[in-house]
Amino acid sequence: MRLFVGLDLPWTLKQRLAVLAGGIPGARWVPAENYHMTLRFIGEVQAHQAEEIDLALHALRGRGFSLTLSGVGTFAKGGRDTQLWVGVQRNPALEHLQAKVETALQRAGLEPERRRFTPHVTLARLDNAVPAKLAAFVQTHNLFRAEPFPVEHFILFSSRLGKEASVYTAEVDYPLA
Ligand code: 2AM
Repeated sequence: MRLFVGLDLPWTLKQRLAVLAGGIPGARWVPAENYHMTLRFIGEVQAHQAEEIDLALHALRGRGFSLTLSGVGTFAKGGRDTQLWVGVQRNPALEHLQAKVETALQRAGLEPERRRFTPHVTLARLDNAVPAKLAAFVQTHNLFRAEPFPVEHFILFSSRLGKEASVYTAEVDYPLA
């Protein structure tokens, strides 16, 4: 199975983000029900390793905190923008949780994640987006800021790649104190 660890967002916040979607021909917008924030991508694992991962995440002791989505930006590959996202206001508690998840997953036998943690909520994939429209979108929504929301648990998600969009399933919920 293909797994990742992440945070779900309140439905009201998903609806707020969904209002942003549109206005960039060629963008593939993520369906609102799929919005989430990845703490750590895991990838394909065997069932026995998934069990190790679950045990390690259960043993993690973390505290709840408040999170604020803010700003928009893009990831680029080979000089082309590939992803449009909403960012997260700097948050030491989030970074602390992410570090704990990373430690737990290494304890479960995973290789360390080499990439820097860049918290974001992906809004769209940009294979064929019209660059001028994308630039205008980023400029228009740069000051986007959502209401803070409480993070009271994190989730082990499974992901099935679909034709149109992936299907994410919350497999296990881990409460934060
Ligand atoms: P993205 O939203 O930035 O694309 C499920 O696919 C989640 O895991 C998504 O949030 C996705 O991040 C992330 N993800 C998918 N493949 C990844 C990879 N190779 N490395 C890091 N994160 C990945």
